[in-house]
Amino acid sequence: MGHLEVWHGDITELTIDAIVNAANARLAGGGGVDGAIHAAAGPALARAAVRHAPLPVGEAVVTPAFGLEPAIRFVVHTVGPRWSGGDAGEPELLRACYRRSLEVAAAAGARAIAFPAISTGIYGYPRHPAAAIALEEASSAVGAGWDRVVLVAFDDETAGLYRSAVGR
Ligand code: APR
Repeated sequence: MGHLEVWHGDITELTIDAIVNAANARLAGGGGVDGAIHAAAGPALARAAVRHAPLPVGEAVVTPAFGLEPAIRFVVHTVGPRWSGGDAGEPELLRACYRRSLEVAAAAGARAIAFPAISTGIYGYPRHPAAAIALEEASSAVGAGWDRVVLVAFDDETAGLYRSAVGR
């Protein structure tokens, strides 16, 4: 039976098959978690990722993890929606990021995956509704056979939202 976990910290420090990057359409790196993942992986990550650009919002692609921690085999790059009030399809697009990331990671052979709180930084998605979508999609993935799904919180508010739902 798989399990859902909450991790409070830097996603690049996890020991797990696949980590998800909250990227932008150009896939060449950026700030936030995107910057941290590219810095840890080295320039080969951007060279591999940009071949898939421009990536539409809600889509995901997988690349090798290059210089990341050796246990990490794959980086899944997804493009979250920018928050613009909530009536521009943001919830459906955010949900699609989780679903497509799981699909491409499973197709690559991953059995365990970690997600940052996609769109809740620079893209401005409110943390509470974003956490609800992340929790629903992660729970469904565990129910569908994933060994381990980790929701990574970098800030205290997200950690609290995840932990109050997961119960640890
Ligand atoms: N590990 C885990 N989570 C992190 C890390 C990290 N090292 N660094 C930041 N975060 C968290 C943020 O606190 C936030 O909760 O990741 C979440 C997503 O924030 P952003 O990285 O700003 O991503 P997003 O809101 O999706 O904006 C994407 O930002 O970096 C650029 O190139 C990226 O243009 C794109 C945009």
